[in-house]
This record gives sequence, structure tokens and C-alpha cells, in this order.
Amino acid sequence: MEKQLIDETVQGQPLVLEDGNQGNKKLFLESYGCAMNFSDSEIVASILSKSGYSTTDNVEEADVVFLNTCAIRDNAEQKVRARLRDFKKIKKRNPGMLVGVLGCMAERLKAKLLEEEKLVDMVVGPDSYRDLPNLIEQAEDGHKAVNVLLSKEETYADITPVRLGSNGINAFISITRGCDNMCSFCVVPFTRGRERSRNPESIVAEAKDLFDKGFREVTLLGQNVDSYLWSGGGLKKENLTEEQKANSVGFSKLLEMVALVHSDLRVRFSTSHPKDMIDEVLHIMAKYENICKYVHLPVQSGSTRVLEMMNRGYTREWYLDRMAAIRRIIPDCGISADMISGFCSETEEEHQETISLMKEVVYDFAYMFFYSERPKTLAERKYPDDIPEEIKKRRLAEIIDVQREHSAIRISQAVGKTHRVLIEGISKKSEEMMMGRNSQNAVVVFPKENFKKGTYVNVYVDRCTSTTLIGKVVE
Ligand code: SAH
Ligand code: SF4
Ligand code: F3S
Repeated sequence: MEKQLIDETVQGQPLVLEDGNQGNKKLFLESYGCAMNFSDSEIVASILSKSGYSTTDNVEEADVVFLNTCAIRDNAEQKVRARLRDFKKIKKRNPGMLVGVLGCMAERLKAKLLEEEKLVDMVVGPDSYRDLPNLIEQAEDGHKAVNVLLSKEETYADITPVRLGSNGINAFISITRGCDNMCSFCVVPFTRGRERSRNPESIVAEAKDLFDKGFREVTLLGQNVDSYLWSGGGLKKENLTEEQKANSVGFSKLLEMVALVHSDLRVRFSTSHPKDMIDEVLHIMAKYENICKYVHLPVQSGSTRVLEMMNRGYTREWYLDRMAAIRRIIPDCGISADMISGFCSETEEEHQETISLMKEVVYDFAYMFFYSERPKTLAERKYPDDIPEEIKKRRLAEIIDVQREHSAIRISQAVGKTHRVLIEGISKKSEEMMMGRNSQNAVVVFPKENFKKGTYVNVYVDRCTSTTLIGKVVE
């Protein structure tokens, strides 16, 4: 629970294909970091399956090991370094095994990674995955292989991801790559490059294909989904002519297009940005039953001064106005956020402003972090990282305590009501129970009977634990 609240990192469990493991070369692929990285790993597996690779969860038998890495906080990088040390031992026993670092840490450190971590054979940034078969060949020939070029166009739109470790019900679809926001604490603009949107037709086609294969929920992914814009030529809103504007597809339109694929296909999205989330998106959410009533809207801080230093582009009041809009337009909406404690020069009063904002909103859920200075970011260049670690951690602990209370309040408010649940499979805790989620993303469990995953049921919830709703299926 503690872990879940503090760190969203998808812990590097090996990602394997459910079926179709026919390739004769073995790939061991682990993904760290956010959902976008996970989604990229599915692109990587797709590209490599065409070169004869199949996935394995046994690193000892792997020909190639790839770690898809995260650079968002220092501890994310430390985890990857520890994992690379594990592989060093395995490589001693199996010298033919190639090890590659993919993703954000590869992009941040580039060829320096080869010097720092001597056993690494390949360093590949997030826009270079089409080059992987070549890079592996180079490495097989005994050359170190590096490609960390960032692109302004690459969206991998034409690559059908293979679904890794999938339950066959939920899938991610990337709709944008990169980020243009330059929040002062954040490394993502440096590791993922400029923001670009993917062709909406390819997104809708992917959603249709998933639905036909039995999937029943898609999550549209981007660092800032609200800035999604497709105008054919990759132009920014401010550079469009009136005609181009009229023909362009923004996020609310895209959301509607995906919702219309099928009324039994649930649609989620992440992440929204407070400065760009417009009422139109909320109205589209309210209009379609199959768009889930859940918004993840990272706040980072409750203090306008700190938000300004963070370069977030909104004030406390603006954020609270967005919260009010959500509650007005979608009264039953689940809401979650991200928060950072101990950003440069944050005072005790400003920390209290974060807590008071939380008390105004009462989030269902939150991801909470203490500030970790990242090389090259605006904050690293401009502001001293002057809050001692023990104070950062104490403030974080206070934030977590408040959130724990709020999560308990929110979950108990769901008791005594009937929820529409998409069944995802057997409950982890009991073979006799099935689990699914309601529209607000809360986990709901109920007796199995003859219910099938991928179908919808109405569950009357009569009790809950701190994280789970428990009930019975009703008509
Ligand atoms: N694009 C999303 C978030 C991406 S990173 C957004 O704009 O909201 C996910 C979260 O990690 C951020 O919301 C932030 O809370 C946290 N984070 C990012 N950089 C950080 C840093 N340097 N130290 C601590 N937390 C950080
Ligand atoms: Fe980072 Fe800000 Fe972009 Fe989110 S919006 S990825 S926090 S720069
Ligand atoms: Fe990490 Fe890169 Fe995602 S830094 S959070 S994996 S975009």
C-alpha cells in the first residue's frame, strides 16, 4: 500500500507474450517507469518479433536483454543500475548475452552509459526503436551500438504493438509522444523530445482492432493528453490557418471518436494537464457512458508561488476552478493527482497550502513524491535544491497521511451503491472471487459464479477494505 502510494514505477517484472512465442531468438524485456514506457515496450516487442525474437521470462536463456528505463527521479535510475549489476553476474556465465538500455535513462545519459556501466552493449533512446534490429547486429559483431536521436515526427503509428503480460481486457494506446511543457523539475522534455500527436485514424483503427480481439478497455496515453492536436502537418495550434483549425482534431474530438468505436469499449486517458484541460473534454466525458468518469490531474503543489517556480502554467485558484468544473459537469467523477514535496525554497506555509488544497479536493488517490533534482532541468540550473532531505521526507509523510484518510473517505462513499463493473479476471486473493473496476477506477470484487472476464455486471457493494470494494452481482 505504502509502496503503491509513493511510487507508480511499474516494477520491472519481465514482460512476456501470452502466445505467439515462435521466434528462435530469446528476448528478455523489463519495463520501468510510466505507462508510456510500458506501451513502448509493446512496440519494441513488435519490432523485434519481426526479426525472429520471442519473449522469455527467464533471463538465463535470453540472447538479448533490454531494460526500458525511467529517469524521472534519482531512485528510478538507482533501481536500473542495481538491475544492471544483476545482469553482470549472469553475463559472466553467459558471455554471448547482449544487454541494452532503452528509454529515458538511455536518452539522458547517452554514450556515457557505456562508460559508466561497462557491460552495456546498446543504448537506445525512445525514438530509435525501429533501428533495434540493426543495433543488435552491430552489437553481435562486437561493436557498442548507440542511437539516441530524438525525432519530431516519430509516433510508431503504423506499428501494431504486441500486447505484453496482458489480461486480454485492458490495453494502452499512445496518442502523443514527447512533451513541450518544460516544467522546471522535469526531465521528460529532455528524454522524450518535442511533443507530437499521432494520426487519429491510426488511433481509432488500433482501438477497433483491440475491440475485435476481445479487449474492452483502452487507455489513451500522453504526457499531456489535453494538448493532443492533429492537423495533418504536425503544426501547432498557433500556426494554423482558420481552415486548418476547422479540420484539425483536438483531444475532445479524439475522445469522442474512440468512444464511438463501440459502446462496450471503455475509454480512459492519462495524463491531463490543469492548464489545458477544457470544459469541452468534460462535456464529452459526461455525454458518453463508456468514457470512464475518472480524471488524473496532477497538481504538484498547492502554492501559487511554488507552481510558478515549477513553470506549471496555472495558479492554485485556476486548479481549484478546474476541480469545480469536474464536479459540476461530472458529479460522480473519480479524481487523482500527483504531488511533489520539498521543491526548491518551499516554505512550511507553502507545504501547508498543498495540504489545504488536498483537504478542499479530497482526492480518491494520489501519487506522492519528494523532489529529486534532475540534471539539465530548469530548476537544476536556476534554483538551489535547498530543502534538506529529512524535511522533504517529513512533508511527504504528512501528505501521505492526509491522502490515506481521504482515500478511506472516498472508498467508503462507494459502499451501499450499485456499480457497473468491467470484469478483468479472477481476484488475486481468492479463486472464488472475480475482480473488475468501476468507472471511477476502483477495484471491485464479487463471488465468481459463472461470470466471464470482459463482460459487464452490476455489483451492489456492501463493504470495503482500504483499497477494494466488495459486493454481489445484482440485476
Ligand atoms: N506529464 C505528467 C507527469 C509525468 S511525470 C504531468 O505533467 O503531470 C509523473 C510525476 O512525477 C509528475 O506528475 C511529478 O509529480 C513527478 N515528478 C516529475 N519530476 C519529478 C522530480 N524531479 N522529483 C520528484 N517528482 C517528480
Ligand atoms: Fe514533465 Fe511537465 Fe511535461 Fe508532465 S507536463 S511530462 S511534468 S514537463
Ligand atoms: Fe520515466 Fe520517461 Fe515515463 S522518465 S516517467 S519513463 S516518460
